[in-house]
Amino acid sequence: MDLFHFPRWVNRIRLLLPPMFVMGGLYAVGLVNFGASPDSLVVGYAPKQPIPYSHRLHAGELGIDCRYCHQNVDKSAHASLPASATCMNCHTKIRSESPKLALLRETFAADQPIPWVKVHDLPDYVYFDHSAHVTKGIGCVECHGRVDQMEVVTVVKKLSMGWCLDCHRNPQPALRPVDQVTNMAWTPPEGGVDPALLRTVHPKTNCSTCHR
Ligand code: HEC
Ligand code: HEC
Ligand code: HEC
Ligand code: HEC
Ligand code: HEC
Repeated sequence: MDLFHFPRWVNRIRLLLPPMFVMGGLYAVGLVNFGASPDSLVVGYAPKQPIPYSHRLHAGELGIDCRYCHQNVDKSAHASLPASATCMNCHTKIRSESPKLALLRETFAADQPIPWVKVHDLPDYVYFDHSAHVTKGIGCVECHGRVDQMEVVTVVKKLSMGWCLDCHRNPQPALRPVDQVTNMAWTPPEGGVDPALLRTVHPKTNCSTCHR
């Protein structure tokens, strides 16, 4: 096998493997998950967070839109987490003495980020882009489930290559009007979504879409 004609990302994957497997080339790739925290690829993973922030309360009961806190989700690859200042818009007045918010007040005063624990984490050799999905009518709920009902954010879909590809091959059932992407309770109208929407969407399935 000619090892030098693989694309660059394959070599990056291979660097993660113990050298004894390398001879086997692609034979060994089944073992690769070393690049990411393996827990984050497991359905049900719900790490404890440093502040007991609840999506069920804030996004559910209070009805705050996802983009109030995840401001870059429709603009860039990363969804981004809120700065302490965003929380303090309310918590300088609401529950301003709560012991549950002690770390929030400390990080805000010190101008430090809150040490949130990552929940979803793809291996480094995978390229993912939020805005590419959200601006084409794929809702948060398709990939993250009913976050508005979660006390603690939990992985609900196995973020495997097969899962990505299943939708890239047939995105139709997942599409919704772009102005509904953060509406967790949206259901398709009778007769399905506007066919004009379907014609604008052509996800790619070639390897370099997600491995570059
Ligand atoms: C008031 C701010 C706020 C709002 C509104 C909000 N979030 Fe979050 N979100 C956070 C914070 C803070 C975290 C990090 C702590 C955690 O995981 O709970 C987070 C984490 C997440 C994560 C996990 C990130 C990771 O590490 O993988 C997802 C997914 C998520 N939010 C989706 C949503 C969705 C979908 C909505 C709208 C229904 C939403 N959020 C609304 C503040 C918010
Ligand atoms: C739009 C206003 C608003 C924003 C923004 C907001 N919260 Fe809240 N938060 C509330 C309200 C309202 C309550 C419920 C207070 C009550 O139960 O009386 C609450 C309750 C909480 C509690 C429970 C406090 C307790 O003593 O039980 C925590 C923890 C919390 N918020 C964390 C956060 C964090 C972290 C952020 C930023 C990621 C945030 N909140 C952003 C309005 C907000
Ligand atoms: C097509 C599937 C998909 C959709 C749609 C989607 N996400 Fe994600 N989200 C992911 C994946 C995959 C990751 C892990 C990315 C990584 O590790 O590089 C992630 C990670 C996150 C994170 C952690 C920070 C980051 O960017 O890694 C937040 C917050 C988040 N998503 C919020 C949202 C919100 C809010 C929406 C809707 C507006 C949304 N996501 C829509 C798949 C999706
Ligand atoms: C529920 C459906 C769905 C899932 C799941 C999904 N995608 Fe997509 N993806 C799409 C759609 C729709 C587009 C937009 C296609 C277009 O622009 O016409 C897209 C676009 C992309 C793009 C942008 C491609 C470009 O043209 O630059 C990347 C990168 C991508 N997806 C990676 C991923 C990865 C990695 C995963 C799995 C972790 C994933 N997607 C899961 C539906 C999905
Ligand atoms: C739509 C996105 C997407 C496309 C297109 C894609 N992959 Fe992947 N690939 C992923 C994701 C996500 C992972 C990591 C999760 C996993 O291990 O299943 C991955 C993992 C891998 C791995 C690591 C081994 C493993 O399964 O753990 C190899 C090798 C790989 N892909 C090869 C390919 C090849 C070859 C192609 C083209 C035929 C391709 N991929 C196209 C998303 C994609």
